[in-house]
Amino acid sequence: MHGYPFKDLVQVALGDRKISVRISGRGVPLMLLHGYPLDSRLWDRVVPLLSTEFLCIAPDLRGFGCSAEESKSFSMANLADDCIAILDAMQIRQSIALCGLSMGGYVAMEVAQRYPERLARLILTNTRVNADDSAGIVTRRSAAGMALTEGVPKVVLPMLSKLLSQHTIANQPEVVELVRAMMLETRASTIAWAQLAMAGRADFQRKMRDWTMPVVCIAGAEDPISPPEVLERISRELPNARFHSVGNSAHLTPLECPQEFAKIIS
Ligand code: MLT
Repeated sequence: MHGYPFKDLVQVALGDRKISVRISGRGVPLMLLHGYPLDSRLWDRVVPLLSTEFLCIAPDLRGFGCSAEESKSFSMANLADDCIAILDAMQIRQSIALCGLSMGGYVAMEVAQRYPERLARLILTNTRVNADDSAGIVTRRSAAGMALTEGVPKVVLPMLSKLLSQHTIANQPEVVELVRAMMLETRASTIAWAQLAMAGRADFQRKMRDWTMPVVCIAGAEDPISPPEVLERISRELPNARFHSVGNSAHLTPLECPQEFAKIIS
């Protein structure tokens, strides 16, 4: 397997769909799944720290980033199938480490449920295992409609102060700008499809108890979206899991605290 600089985008054709994948490094395959409404740039600050040890594979999930625009609805299970199809297209047969952040975590859990034999390790970061309740589903439907009718900024900009800690906002202006750019560059249609897909996602609270692969749970100590106590509880209920909390971080730990995040992974 050749090494690639992380800036290089590879277009992988999955049927008639084009998915952009950023690939860097060599070693054990490590697939990195971004959250919403972001793209593979979420991993920009950790991949340089991990690519001496891992072959880092970071897709732009369906409709996000440089992947082709989606004209049809999709589910978290469809996104999980895409991940496996990317590995197949890269001819990666060995089991991999899979890391998913928030929505990426929902996708990673679908992979763990459907393709456990493909995973040597699962890393769940800043995410939740429960499905939405009825109020949450209503909020998601309204965000989907608002993105299409009132535009992307109206939906995404209020999220910034929940995604990043006060410490990050005060001390890391380049991270704030990158997150703002990723959010504003996300297509309105992708926001709508992703919100509907998350509204319909599976609940893994019971199913996860059957997962035997090692799991690492990483939380941002100040994450208001996926609070650390939630991830800690998940790690206690999983058969084979460890929990880490990272200080000075809210919801985007790999961007906010890349050194600490990479250290936990390696
Ligand atoms: C994310 O960061 O991916 C989102 O907060 C997930 C969600 O809306 O549940």
